Amino acid sequence: LLSRRQRQMCIRDRSRNILIAPSILSADFANLKDEIKKVEKAGADWIHIDVMDGHFVPNITIGPQVVQSLRKETSITFDVHLMIENPQKFIDSFAQAGADYITIHYEACENNLDEVINKIKSHNKKTGISIKPKTPVNVLTPLLNKIDLVLIMSVEPGFGGQKYIETSTEKIRQLRTISPEKLIIEVDGGINQNTAGLAVNAGADVLVAGAYIYGAKDTKQAINSLKIV
Ligand code: DX5
Ligand code: ZN
Repeated sequence: LLSRRQRQMCIRDRSRNILIAPSILSADFANLKDEIKKVEKAGADWIHIDVMDGHFVPNITIGPQVVQSLRKETSITFDVHLMIENPQKFIDSFAQAGADYITIHYEACENNLDEVINKIKSHNKKTGISIKPKTPVNVLTPLLNKIDLVLIMSVEPGFGGQKYIETSTEKIRQLRTISPEKLIIEVDGGINQNTAGLAVNAGADVLVAGAYIYGAKDTKQAINSLKIV
């Protein structure tokens, strides 16, 4: 039998076990430890941590020190989404801080992607690449065998609580068609009870949700509603 942590780290299984990754961007930042415990208890599979630098996106959030502090409080999978310029400069720090998945943006390092991918792998971390809504899926074609995960942004990165961009569904479908079976497809932005089904039916494996989960009165019910789509 696999431990909970091993199951969380597991690649998508064929029975379409959808994983839910609450984004702490919509949590109470004065209370992050309890906010993570709350979603963990309610059935979250991963914790999605949005890192923003004020350059790649017009917002600033969390750095490696916060990740390191949170790492001491839980063993749940940390899914770190780097919305930063020059991600190669910070991979060591986030890896040492205890990230499990490290996802960088294609648009932030299209000229040195191999270097960045290799750096993540050198720490034995799972490697993800994200694309913004206007970036086409086919730019990823040469990379799909080298990475563990693709994060399709279904809103413009920077803020929680935005509306799901409908054209994302077709991008997920297209990516699923050209991807190896083991590649994890994660979708991020505007996921709620109504949009989760669009993403999952198109082939998504992991759903990020911030405002929907942290804004819900009943956290467990909100997480379950995304699993049953
Ligand atoms: C946006 C972030 C998302 C955000 C999603 O740039 O990458 O992870 O937290 O938030 P919701 O689910 O509220 O759209
Ligand atoms: Zn994110």
